[in-house]
Amino acid sequence: MKEILKELEDRRAQARLGGGQKRIDAQHARGKLTARERIEVLLDEGSFEEMDMFVTHRCTDFGMEKMSYPGDGVVTGSGTINGRLVYVFSQDFTVFGGSLSETHAQKICKVMDMAMRVGAPVIGLNDSGGARIQEGVASLAGYADVFQRNVLASGVVPQISVIMGPCAGGAVYSPAMTDMIFMVKDSSYMFVTGPDVVKTVTNEVVTQEELGGAITHSTKSAVADKAFENDVEALMQTRRMFDFLPLNNREAAPVRPSFDGADRVELSLDSVVPSNPNKPYDMHEVIEKIVDEGDFFELQPLHARNMIIGLARMEGQTVGIVANQPMVLAGCLDIDSSKKAARFVRFCDCFNIPILTLVDVPGFLPGTAQEHGGIIKHGAKLLFAFGEATVPKITVITRKAYGGAYDVMSSKHLRGDMNYAWPTAEIAVMGAKGAVEIIYRAERDDADKIAERTKAYESHFANPFVAASKGFIDEVIMPHSTRKRICRSLQVLKTKSLENPWKKHDNIPL
Ligand code: HXC
Repeated sequence: MKEILKELEDRRAQARLGGGQKRIDAQHARGKLTARERIEVLLDEGSFEEMDMFVTHRCTDFGMEKMSYPGDGVVTGSGTINGRLVYVFSQDFTVFGGSLSETHAQKICKVMDMAMRVGAPVIGLNDSGGARIQEGVASLAGYADVFQRNVLASGVVPQISVIMGPCAGGAVYSPAMTDMIFMVKDSSYMFVTGPDVVKTVTNEVVTQEELGGAITHSTKSAVADKAFENDVEALMQTRRMFDFLPLNNREAAPVRPSFDGADRVELSLDSVVPSNPNKPYDMHEVIEKIVDEGDFFELQPLHARNMIIGLARMEGQTVGIVANQPMVLAGCLDIDSSKKAARFVRFCDCFNIPILTLVDVPGFLPGTAQEHGGIIKHGAKLLFAFGEATVPKITVITRKAYGGAYDVMSSKHLRGDMNYAWPTAEIAVMGAKGAVEIIYRAERDDADKIAERTKAYESHFANPFVAASKGFIDEVIMPHSTRKRICRSLQVLKTKSLENPWKKHDNIPL
């Protein structure tokens, strides 16, 4: 019996070595952790339950029958993060470069199926040279099996991808369909075709980092939601973000104890909006002063910075925050910011996360670049996302809410549950100057007259009271009591029940 037990221990020890000590050392020399070390950092200590440790590939071409590693290049199983269940797969670059074989894919599919069955999130730690070249089409089939599960799991359980090494070719499309992508700076990259193919086809010379590194994807392409300095930071931040999320689409997000009183008054908010309407202020400051302990997990902080999105808590309950940022492009809506916020609103709605919208928007960004780039369709994404969302929606207009952008930003008309305005709010169809130049076109050469008309228009419309008199704003509130108001509303809205008409699915303008 002892010998049998020892054999199991020996086999386990061999599997834990992956592609061998030399390759583990090479992984460390690149500043990367191994697949197993990453799981240890990600999960609660001792919580990992491994599955399929002894699975090997079935390929017999190219001498592969003589080269087989237990586990086949991916470590899979379940564990907990702060006591809550999660399924994990972690690709092992020391085994055939973490490349995906038929059996490697089957292991990933197995944990995804389990996760969907029991209602727990899936976190994928990606570090792979792509399709296992020796296996050819069997590997492509494996990818497609994973893709199909990504689609089925979307909106059912949260799916998070952490890119910690290469992720190239069609392999990028699995993370692309998950809810969130985090990347590690300098050691991870994602592209559909690498620098060599780019050079051959387009003659462009570009490095891996420029083409698809963490900075590129978290600033330009928005493929990644966040970039981190190293493996440990990426994994610790993944733990932090996981804590905001429910386990699946039927559960509420966990409530974490908060030491921040729900009725905390924040007097400094009374002076945050400058008296000059053209002067910016930092909406981050408003967010941090409203949410529990100023703890805000921002997503895509370096892309479309005129829109802020992220997760925070109010009285311990997770909320998704969508906010215009007056510091960048005056907070206007454009293609990138609309797409950024629209996907986030839909994410929150999938996973029962109430949405808090902070509005200071002068309108849509004008120009041929925007029109030709399809701002009509992309702006509609955000309008659609807010309009279809059935989670509790609370809106606070801090300053400007002009034109179509007023409607879009979770207005009362899009089933906003509680729509507040600060006394500094200006809610109007367009800016006073533009409005006067149209209504009083005949007087446009008389500067004094136009100035007088502009002033009159401003004093009539540049306030929240016209909208409030029509019930489009539920209450004009003191900025210092914003947190209190939101906390109360969220309490009331806990029992909100709203359903959209039955449909197979909607047809959001993609
Ligand atoms: C099999 C692979 C492999 C792969 C790497 N290896 N990629 N084995 N299939 N796709 C093996 C190497 O042979 C090597 O084995 C070990 O992994 C480490 O690779 P190195 O090249 O030494 O590492 P590095 O210099 O860091 O380069 C990493 C790399 C490079 C950039 C990922 O290996 C690479 O370019 N690989 C091929 C990438 C690729 O073309 N993949 C297929 C794309 S098509 P030893 O034994 O020496 O340790 C695709 C289609 C998917 O993915 C479609 C889905 C729809």
